[in-house]
Amino acid sequence: MGSDNSNTVALVDFVIFGGAGDLAYRKLLPAMYRAFKEGKIAPESHIFCTVRKQEDFDNYMGNVNKALQNFLYDGEFDKTIWKGFSNIVAPVMVDISKRDEKWAVLEKHLECDDDRSRVFYLSTPPAVFGEACKNLHEQSLITANSRVVVEKPLGYDAKSAEQINATIATYFEESQIFRIDHYLGKETVQNLMALRFSNILFEQFWNSKFIDHVQISISETVGLEGRAGFYDNAGALRDMIQNHLLQLLCLTAMEPPNTISADNIRAEKLKVLQALRPLRGDDVITNTVRGQYVAGEFNGKLVPGYLEELNDGASHTETFVAIRAYIDNWRWARVPFYLRTGKRMKERCAEIVLQFREIPHDVYSGKQGTTPPNRLVIRLQPDESIQLYLVAKDLNELDIKLKPVVLNLNFAETFENFRSDAYKRLMLDAALNNPSLFIHRDEVAAAWAWIDPIIETWVEREVIPELYRAGSWGPQAATELMSDDGRRWYNAGEGV
Ligand code: BG6
Repeated sequence: MGSDNSNTVALVDFVIFGGAGDLAYRKLLPAMYRAFKEGKIAPESHIFCTVRKQEDFDNYMGNVNKALQNFLYDGEFDKTIWKGFSNIVAPVMVDISKRDEKWAVLEKHLECDDDRSRVFYLSTPPAVFGEACKNLHEQSLITANSRVVVEKPLGYDAKSAEQINATIATYFEESQIFRIDHYLGKETVQNLMALRFSNILFEQFWNSKFIDHVQISISETVGLEGRAGFYDNAGALRDMIQNHLLQLLCLTAMEPPNTISADNIRAEKLKVLQALRPLRGDDVITNTVRGQYVAGEFNGKLVPGYLEELNDGASHTETFVAIRAYIDNWRWARVPFYLRTGKRMKERCAEIVLQFREIPHDVYSGKQGTTPPNRLVIRLQPDESIQLYLVAKDLNELDIKLKPVVLNLNFAETFENFRSDAYKRLMLDAALNNPSLFIHRDEVAAAWAWIDPIIETWVEREVIPELYRAGSWGPQAATELMSDDGRRWYNAGEGV
């Protein structure tokens, strides 16, 4: 997609607000370490990590060291690189929401005599975004070459998202605001556009004339992972569909942009979101499924149910959602897009499946075998690959017997040493001022405008999540959503 930073070295000062948080240790600092190791961050750069409590420098750096050893791949940590990297990382004591003399210390750290980029990464709850931006402004830390990166959740509904966006916009220009959706940083997600718009083969068939339906599925095997407070207030619709799945839907369904500039890509994605057929009232009841996991078996072990993990016997938060959606435009008229995501499911997998239409006339009718329609499966994780399901003659049979076969392009094998790190890509893009893989304010608003009425109907009609066993593929109603249409979910690992 529109970012090529391969040969550019960023001279940048990062300020990570929430520098002792889970995201910083697990994702941001390992991503920065990789970028540094690859020579993509100039050694004169800095990474200031804000901490709220007085923190001993050595203690914090010890934590960073431990985090890198834990969260980098085996063999990635290198003592010599660490020496260089640890020279550019430092904790700074600042309370993001309180303006006191400590901000002057941060200002001092950021003083420099070149026009380097500044990236303020708000890895904090959105409730403090406004205060943070105000403090940055009042301390005169926002230069023309500054950007602010904001993590999801961007709001709870359209109204709160708009409030957050408006507050940030008081202090930063839209061109300086980088709203992150880490799915867009995944190399395989960017490859979706390369696949569609660089191969004449696919684009010809990418429409309602040839495609029967599309499935976009992100299944996770993890449960709450200690995020009960956040997750129970959000649920799968807000946590996954509003952002990651709708972004994948946009990239799958959008028209070819004129160029791969950020503006062109975002404009095309926005059109898709605006063309999503609204779901309200009865339409929500017939086109959506809510689920919540109960205890079940995963990899031979018993895992607890959502309510047990939560320690609250009464929550009706959904941990699974399936939706039948339509995009009302010329290209996709009457083609259902089935979206599905859930926690504690049978396999961890993110896939986009395009199911082609049946052949118009079967010249082999009466012969052995079947001619299932073609299918293109784009697997985003794990084992990134593209598979095209075709029909061929079984060469071991003298008589005509048809058999489904698979053309398999495995990216891990094709691109040796390929390892995706979405955060590395996105942080470098922010440093180099490339917003293509970030979300525009209008996209956030359009996504919420589609999501809000679904939630409202669930609340009004008291739609209680249907239970599903941990380690399964979700509730029965999700299977029926498909079977009612004479279709089925293609689950990872279930073969042809
Ligand atoms: C996050 C959600 O945005 O994405 C999590 O808040 C989810 O609940 C995660 O687990 C999934 O990301 P990935 O990259 O592991 O598929």
